[in-house]
Parts: sequence; C-alpha cells; structure tokens
Amino acid sequence: MGRVQNKVIFITGAARGQGRAHAVRLAQEGANIIGVDICEDIKTNSYGMATPEDFDETVRLVEAAGGRMITSIADVRDRQAIVAAVEQGVAEFGRLDGIVAQAGICPLGTDDPQAFLDAFTVDFVGVVNAVEAAVPHLSKGGSIVATGSLAALMAGATDNPSNGVGGLGYSLAKRMVASFINDLAVVLGPKGIRANAVHPTNCNTDMLNSDIMYRQFRPDLEAPTREDALPFFPAMTMMGVPYVEPEDISQMVLFLLSDESRYVTGMQMRVDAGGYVRNRPQQPTF
Ligand SMILES: NC(=O)c1ccc[n+]([C@@H]2O[C@H](COP(=O)([O-])OP(=O)(O)OC[C@H]3O[C@@H](n4cnc5c(N)ncnc54)[C@H](O)[C@@H]3O)[C@@H](O)[C@H]2O)c1
Repeated sequence: MGRVQNKVIFITGAARGQGRAHAVRLAQEGANIIGVDICEDIKTNSYGMATPEDFDETVRLVEAAGGRMITSIADVRDRQAIVAAVEQGVAEFGRLDGIVAQAGICPLGTDDPQAFLDAFTVDFVGVVNAVEAAVPHLSKGGSIVATGSLAALMAGATDNPSNGVGGLGYSLAKRMVASFINDLAVVLGPKGIRANAVHPTNCNTDMLNSDIMYRQFRPDLEAPTREDALPFFPAMTMMGVPYVEPEDISQMVLFLLSDESRYVTGMQMRVDAGGYVRNRPQQPTF
C-alpha cells in the first residue's frame, strides 16, 4: 500500500517544476492525478510558462510511476475552466481527496501595473478558484495544500521596491495565501477537511533559474548569469545550500495529503533550509 493509495489529487501548475514533482511523487505512493496548467506565456512574466510538451512529459512520468493522470490546459484565473477540469477528473476517477494549489508566476522587474494584477490574480485568486472548485467534492479526511513562499513570511523579500510592482503583487498574494489557509482550516475543520500552506525557499525550477531572478540576487550586474547569482542564493537558507529541489517540497506535500497528517491543519509549513529563522530570529510565540 502506498502512502496515498487510491487517493485522487488535483494539482494546479502540474506541467513542470514543483507541480510535476508532486504529481510524480504522489503517483509513486498510489494516487491518481487531475492536473491543470496554463501552458501559455503570460506577457508581464519575463520567463516563459510550461508548454504542452512539458505537460505530456508529466503524464508520462506519472504513468511510469504507476499512476493515472487527467490533464486540462486551463488558466487558474478562469474559475469556470478550473471547475470544469475538476469535474471532468472526478467523473473519471470517481472521487477527490485532496488538492495542491500551486500554479504561480513571479513577474519581477517591471513597474507595469498589470504585473501587480497578474501576480495577485494567478498567485492568490488562482488558489481561491482551485479551492472553490474542489470543496464540493471533498469530504471527511480531505486535505488542501496551497503553496506560498518564504516571501510570504518575510518583509523586504520580493516586495522590495527594487523588484518592481510585480514583486509587490507576488508578496501580497503569498501573504494572503497564508492567511486564507489559516482561516480555511477554521472553516473546514468541523467537516474533517484540513488546510495547510507550504512555504518553499529558493527551489530549483524555471522560476528561480531565470534572468530576472538572477538580477534580484545580483543587482550590481547589468546581465548576471546563473554562475554570477549562484554564490548569492544561500542568503535565502541557513544550511549552506543555494536552493532546495522540487522533490524536497513534494515530501512535505505528500505528508500533508496522506492520512499520516490527519490532525495537522492550519499550519504554515516551511521547507526552507532554515531561511526563515536566519532572517527572523525571534523566538516562537506561545
Ligand atoms: N522556485 C522557487 O524558488 C519558489 C520559491 C517559493 C515559492 N515558489 C512557488 O512554488 C510554486 C511552483 O512554482 P515552480 O517553482 O514550480 O515554478 P515554475 O515556473 O517551474 O512552475 C509554475 C507552473 O505553473 C504554471 N502556471 C503559471 N501560471 C498559471 C496559470 N495562470 N494557470 C495555470 N497554470 C499556471 C506554469 O505554466 C508552470 O508549469 C509557485 O506558486 C511559486 O510561487 C517557488
């Protein structure tokens, strides 16, 4: 028996990066996957989004891991499309046990107001849409996971004015994901449904490995490369590593979706190699 045997999990942003890693890890542990991804670039976001070929590769990997996967190309901002994707998956698999609302963009380096709006609507409204599509299908034992960011927990990270208004939108969205999940745990607790947030530090995906992110770490250089930025990445961790791997986040996601965490809810789970305690060294409050 796998750790999420026969569970059906809905994942947004499943075509590559962390979303793909979650799909594969969950399939290895017995789950079937309903996935959505936009598979189309967003104008204000300087690095590209996943492609349909990326999405096909995720399906291939899920199947190789022993799972089944249903995909829809859809924008998390499009509530009707997200509802339709979940309904199609539930019709096929017969149930829904959990979700990972984690599709995201990080449109740094621009003062275009649309970047602020895109970051907010994809990174926060997209989470709300995924939750709203899923809740009617979840029952006792259900589990909601949303991906925030270390940026949600630390002022002056992506919302540093030098990152432009897209960074401000990103931080606002991620803080709201944290608050939304907190209150959702209150709302859904009596129904036996759990809600938790996962907050990664730098993670080794296309979002981090982008020219605009290199510039955040090396504002002193005109066109920094990955090699220029790499020695500065560990500023976001305490353990000497520049980033965590997508699979490190998947381990936390797997735990939160499994019954092993059946009484864990309303939590803000950092997978950050100590990045938070490095920068906010206060004692926990009781
Ligand atoms: N990579 C990091 O350093 C880092 C750090 C902290 C938090 N995060 C968060 O982790 C999550 C996953 O990002 P990632 O690191 O895998 O980056 P990524 O860019 O590789 O993956 C994001 C995925 O979301 C999809 N997507 C984007 N906008 C979408 C939309 N509107 N509708 C549907 N799909 C959409 C993309 O096509 C892509 O497949 C995001 O929420 C991100 O904010 C990432």
